[in-house]
Amino acid sequence: MTSPSVLDLVSAPSRAAPESGIVEIVNYGRQVEGLVKLWVGEGDLPTPAFIADAATRGLAAGETFYTWQRGIPPLRKALAQYHTKMLGRPFEPDRFFVTVGGMHAIIVAVRMIVEDGDEVIVPGPAWPNVPAAIELAGGTVKLLPMDYRPEGWTLDLERLEAMAAAPRAKAILVNSPANPTGWTADKETLAAILSIARKHGLWILADEVYGRFVPAGERAASFHDVAEDGERILYVNTFSKNWAMTGWRLGWLEAPPELGQVIENLVQYSTSGVPSFLQHGGIAAIEHGDSFLAYQIERAKRGQAILEAALSESNRVSYAKPGGGFYLFPTIDGIDDTRVLAKRLVDEAGVGVAPGTSFGPGGERFFRLCCARNEGEIRTAAERLADWLRRL
Ligand SMILES: Cc1ncc(COP(=O)(O)O)c(C=O)c1O
Repeated sequence: MTSPSVLDLVSAPSRAAPESGIVEIVNYGRQVEGLVKLWVGEGDLPTPAFIADAATRGLAAGETFYTWQRGIPPLRKALAQYHTKMLGRPFEPDRFFVTVGGMHAIIVAVRMIVEDGDEVIVPGPAWPNVPAAIELAGGTVKLLPMDYRPEGWTLDLERLEAMAAAPRAKAILVNSPANPTGWTADKETLAAILSIARKHGLWILADEVYGRFVPAGERAASFHDVAEDGERILYVNTFSKNWAMTGWRLGWLEAPPELGQVIENLVQYSTSGVPSFLQHGGIAAIEHGDSFLAYQIERAKRGQAILEAALSESNRVSYAKPGGGFYLFPTIDGIDDTRVLAKRLVDEAGVGVAPGTSFGPGGERFFRLCCARNEGEIRTAAERLADWLRRL
């Protein structure tokens, strides 16, 4: 008798978790010399010294022990002050829970609300980690394909309402500004989604990690603008993007304070907390990071304009101008499989892009470019893409 493969012995959901389609291309092109890499969702700036120094001071001061499961009190207080200032009304620290990046905030939120067979409505194309986390928790992803037109991506609220009425519907994921599409809901749209959620007793998982990356102003519309206190909304956020801290794995979940003990337990039984010395970096970022954030936004905007100008030279390329975030998500007329396209762009153009196939149904014809890079790299990528498109 042959013994079973160890692979057959692991749980079905963990076996079924898909490989990231972005990582597949990164692995494909990793060794290619001179490649301009616009495939991953992060900028190229290192964390500013004033943030790193605060963490180093925490480490030097001996902050190396187990710590508060909900986050150290001064960081929770700083998060409350940050929201109070940004949203113009008071927020209390007991709403904020420090997590290991935005991803851990998603995992805690999903574990808290999703049981076996519960449906979570996910407008797509979507960042693949959230659907994967839902399925790992035993939930079912109900994809709601968004409609693409060069004027913009739109969410069909009638279809959303129909899906929300399903007996097992439990939650709606709303990622605005969205990765990868750049779709950015206005207040009216958020209010309409909230009223659907209220009517059918659903949770909203509000992923607002790109909420500060908007071209024209301070911040994108948020569920905070339309919700009452105590609503079934869980906000996911992170230090990663705003303050160039992707490698720190520092984020936060905002939730009604009544959930505090549940969240504390879920943190305890997953990561047992976030290193306290790192959290001091978070405080510095929140309290003194405005001008760095403004610089990053400006830089990404410039990068986006350069890439847009290059792509627009080809009448085969179309894209919806993003309302927020730092990505472009174009499509090329006549190219349907961007997994193949991404490999061709590595080999033939020297540019690394994220294939739209990795963002689920509706994304197949598109590819994602990260604009938050230095101008030299962006200009090289823009010239190479324009040149490749001319030869197509
Ligand atoms: C839409 C979205 N939500 C959440 C995250 C998670 O952020 P973090 O890197 O802090 O885990 C990302 C990261 O790319 C993202 O794009």
